[in-house]
Amino acid sequence: MKFSGLVSCLAVAGAATAGRIPTQQRSHKHALPTTKIANIEVVDTPLVRDALELIKAFIPLQPYLYNHLMRSWLFGAAAFNNNATLKAAVDLELHAVGTLLHDLGWDMRPNSPWHSENLPFEVDSALGAVAFVKDHNLSTWDENRLERMHDGITLQGMTSYLNGKNIDTNWIVQSVIFEFPGPRSPLIRDADYDSILAEFPNDTVFRGTNETFTWLALTKPEGARGTFIDYFGVSYVPGYGPQTNTAFELITAGVAAEIAQYPNSTFQSHI
Ligand SMILES: *[C@@H]1O[C@H](CO)[C@@H](O)[C@H](O)[C@H]1NC(C)=O
Ligand SMILES: *[C@@H]1O[C@H](CO)[C@@H](O)[C@H](O)[C@H]1NC(C)=O
Ligand SMILES: *[C@@H]1O[C@H](CO)[C@@H](O)[C@H](O)[C@H]1NC(C)=O
Ligand SMILES: *[C@@H]1O[C@H](CO)[C@@H](O)[C@H](O)[C@H]1NC(C)=O
Ligand SMILES: *[C@@H]1O[C@H](CO)[C@@H](O)[C@H](O)[C@H]1NC(C)=O
Repeated sequence: MKFSGLVSCLAVAGAATAGRIPTQQRSHKHALPTTKIANIEVVDTPLVRDALELIKAFIPLQPYLYNHLMRSWLFGAAAFNNNATLKAAVDLELHAVGTLLHDLGWDMRPNSPWHSENLPFEVDSALGAVAFVKDHNLSTWDENRLERMHDGITLQGMTSYLNGKNIDTNWIVQSVIFEFPGPRSPLIRDADYDSILAEFPNDTVFRGTNETFTWLALTKPEGARGTFIDYFGVSYVPGYGPQTNTAFELITAGVAAEIAQYPNSTFQSHI
């Protein structure tokens, strides 16, 4: 779950080389097959179908996670369907895979392939999503597309760092922001909100999120330290220890060491 901010820009495919590339290999900038889910028109490629299949594995243990991922994708898609200019500018397949897989690191199943010992869940999720796409050996996914997706997933909770980033990275994050409680966004039609929430209800999303975040602090404190997950560890995990901040501790300890090493250097404060 994350915060807010938006930018826009439009990538134009290289016209000179486009003619030599078979149609389906440059399909992400052209019309893709579509289908309807919860009455929302969405892209329907083999890669997106596989991503959908992958996250169905969350349903038994974490149904709230599956619903959260589906809503994030569909809210974004509903906003695109409501604005043709926007829809033409966004990489719809990248958006689908990026939103559907943006919380792979929440997977609480034993032996989850996305549960590292020491990385924040956002990074686990991004690495998992990139590996998932790479496993498909698709010539349409170059490093640039992979990185846009990686950034959108990694930066999902760091909205204030998104200014100046590309439209695809921003729209992964913006789609997740639609999940935040509060007034409905004017970018999405009421009927679309209604059909999405009817099929993918959000009635346990807070309880599920609280449990998952506590579980992350419990099972990988190293990946929680210095992130907001720390609060869940401090509050709910016995023996977790006090709140820590690596940068603060490093700098404050460094001040004392620096004074010992350079006792005669003058330093003047201006605050
Ligand atoms: C539609 O999207 C474009 C591109 O992001 C934006 O400039 C424009 O303001 C949007 N239009 C509406 C009505 O929101
Ligand atoms: C992708 O390529 C690897 C290595 O050549 C191969 O093992 C794998 O089966 C391929 N995967 C798909 C989905 O084609
Ligand atoms: C869940 O959806 C309802 C209905 O749109 C909304 O009022 C509420 O804020 C949403 N809750 C969360 C946690 O997003
Ligand atoms: C969050 O989850 C933890 C662990 O299950 C639990 O102890 C705590 O009471 C929950 N917080 C709230 C506000 O329900
Ligand atoms: C700091 O200044 C004092 C007094 O001038 C001098 O005795 C001392 O050697 C200096 N220390 C260093 C580390 O330069």
